[in-house]
Amino acid sequence: MADAVYVTRPLPDPGTEPLVAAGLVVDQHRADAPPSRPELLAGVADASALLCLLTDRVDAEVLDAAPRLQIVANLAVGFDNVDVAAATERGVVVTNTPDVLTEATADLTWALLLAAARRVGEGERLVRAGHWDGWSPTQLVGLPVAGRTLGIVGLGKIGSAVARRARGFAMTVLYRNRRPLGPAVEEELGVRGVGLDELLERSDIVSLHAPLNDESRHLIDAAALARMRSSAILVNTARGPLVDEAALVDALRGGTIAGAGLDVFEREPALAAGLAACENAVLVPHLGSATTAARGAMVRLACANIVDVLAGRRPPTPVNPEVLDRS
Ligand code: DGY
Repeated sequence: MADAVYVTRPLPDPGTEPLVAAGLVVDQHRADAPPSRPELLAGVADASALLCLLTDRVDAEVLDAAPRLQIVANLAVGFDNVDVAAATERGVVVTNTPDVLTEATADLTWALLLAAARRVGEGERLVRAGHWDGWSPTQLVGLPVAGRTLGIVGLGKIGSAVARRARGFAMTVLYRNRRPLGPAVEEELGVRGVGLDELLERSDIVSLHAPLNDESRHLIDAAALARMRSSAILVNTARGPLVDEAALVDALRGGTIAGAGLDVFEREPALAAGLAACENAVLVPHLGSATTAARGAMVRLACANIVDVLAGRRPPTPVNPEVLDRS
């Protein structure tokens, strides 16, 4: 009997074609909204593979509802929605989609950084509302970016791509990692490692690129925001819960910091009370990887991971390779 794959959403091109071409039977959730919990549990019941999204919580209950499951292929580089320990315990491979969305996400980070610093959202709303009375030397004056200091929290692949772009803006780039990079990499990227407090205090723009885990949840809380400059901008294209969003609203309202550019939110798609009314926040709906090229490559990589695991081969991007090593 052919292996079945449960796919939790309609996908951009190439869609499920690589799975079908490999002779797999595809059962796909057709609505462009996440399956309900009962739908997800029923969907995985006979599945050998699950192709899921960051909006699907894949925990022990889901894994236990899927006795034939061999792989959870997450269509995202982040995999905080998957209980990897529970999957590993059950011998289920978890894969993600790194690398292919690095440049797209770095581009969006810069779009938010520039938009927040130069108050593009406020300006756009003013013009669209027909409230613009003409050029004024005092209108919507923002933060200069070129030559300033950029602080990157989590200098992995996406953080590094953001740092490379900062060269064109002649910026000083500080970073904070749990494990600092070697001097050769620091020199190549033109970055300097510092502690989080120093980074927050010295940066004109703070950009978050750390993975979400127990250690990084609310890394940017009221105390961290208070360390930032009152002229500073916070950018988050990583995961919403890195930031205490209620504290951020207070900081944006009270002038603790000057602005924020957010692609991700603590309880997506909901926003913290008061955030939507903060004129000094640029808010976009989790668009980091949203280019045709990146999304297509993510789908191809997730499908390749599934096809390889079900064929008994090593998949390209396992998150828990120890499962493969012990089989
Ligand atoms: C990811 O890949 O983790 C992004 O948040 C969505 O592309």
